[in-house]
Amino acid sequence: MDNPFVFNGYRGKEYFFDREKETILLLQHALSGVNVTLIAQRRMGKTGLIFRLFDELKTTSSTITPIYVDIFATRDIAELNHTLASAILAAFPESSSIGHRFISMLKGFRPLVGIDPLTGTPQLQFTYQNPSEKEQTLEGLLLFLEKQDKPVLLAIDEFQQIRDYKEDNIEALLRTYIQRLHNVRFIFCGSKKHMMADIFSNPQRPFFASTQFVGLNAIPTENYAHYIRKSFSDHDRQIDDEVVDFILQWTRRHTYYTQRVCHDLFALNLPHVAMADATQCCSRLLTLNEPYFLQYKQLLTSGQWNLLIALAKEQEVEQPYAHAFLSRYNLGSTSVARRQLQTLIDKDLVFQETTKERSYYAVADLFLLRWLAREY
Ligand SMILES: Nc1ncnc2c1ncn2[C@@H]1O[C@H](COP(=O)(O)OP(=O)(O)OP(=O)(O)O)[C@@H](O)[C@H]1O
Ligand SMILES: [Mg+2]
Repeated sequence: MDNPFVFNGYRGKEYFFDREKETILLLQHALSGVNVTLIAQRRMGKTGLIFRLFDELKTTSSTITPIYVDIFATRDIAELNHTLASAILAAFPESSSIGHRFISMLKGFRPLVGIDPLTGTPQLQFTYQNPSEKEQTLEGLLLFLEKQDKPVLLAIDEFQQIRDYKEDNIEALLRTYIQRLHNVRFIFCGSKKHMMADIFSNPQRPFFASTQFVGLNAIPTENYAHYIRKSFSDHDRQIDDEVVDFILQWTRRHTYYTQRVCHDLFALNLPHVAMADATQCCSRLLTLNEPYFLQYKQLLTSGQWNLLIALAKEQEVEQPYAHAFLSRYNLGSTSVARRQLQTLIDKDLVFQETTKERSYYAVADLFLLRWLAREY
């Protein structure tokens, strides 16, 4: 039987729930030509939301062509060009007239266009004589989109990756090119809040104040509870209310983790899901991930590891340098803790969440958090 709870990838809007407000907001921005910065914690549902929006763009009478590009694996402008050109090719098949024009245009940049023998899709390989050709190619790709009859929405996922590029003028370059475009609108998506905020809200950076920020919080408890209960009952399964409450509390409504627990619980095929089934399911997920968690331990000093354990036990820590916290877990001096915390943040093991009311630090991976709290 088809499992209603998806935890990897986007499988269509039947499997994607809530986020109506965010979808409409993004739709309005796309229609009115506003560039957006979409920032949220890892695994909260950013990429899924982008594809949900794309579905909406395809089903409404909008004339916008959506293109998705994930630049996580790119390290420089050459790789960005390659990834972007491949995404454009994927959006406009070679057989279409636009795809045909795109291939002709690319020939001006002297790429080798081959055919993947397995999939039959075109493969690109650019050759460059010098760095300025790389920049011209990037500009050329964006200008190609600009010249299309229909407006284009280009969603660039993992955008903070440009901070690691070999070339340090990438922000200025992109900003200059983008400023000239009227027919292309953007969603810049990322999870590294500090970097994204620095790119888009630091007055000294090229992208300063050039986009509208959209955030993504956890799905409200009532909505999530209703969705879980309904997904089970639609398949003639029963799940106790207290079990649903437990799942939402244990996973802290962090989308990926909630979906994962529900998926595994559903897969047990039980006509009636009771509390013991849920707690066993959670416990098994932690054990399953144990090898990864032990690897993290290898990568950290014992001080950093102890700080991670302390953060996991507290779940949320507003003042990690306060004497009470440091002494409760024997974490040493403020200056040592400061360095350790920075390392944990740099390694993406800990994140800082800032809301209107308060700011706190927490272990980023919910399963790691629960495992540390259980084991230590
Ligand atoms: N609204 C939703 N309804 C159902 N499932 C969702 C929803 N949002 C996210 N998910 C599920 O959670 C998983 C994680 O979401 P997604 O990959 O979109 O998060 P992300 O914020 O892009 O994460 P990362 O920062 O790691 O890229 C997805 O595979 C999807 O199956
Ligand atoms: Mg993502």
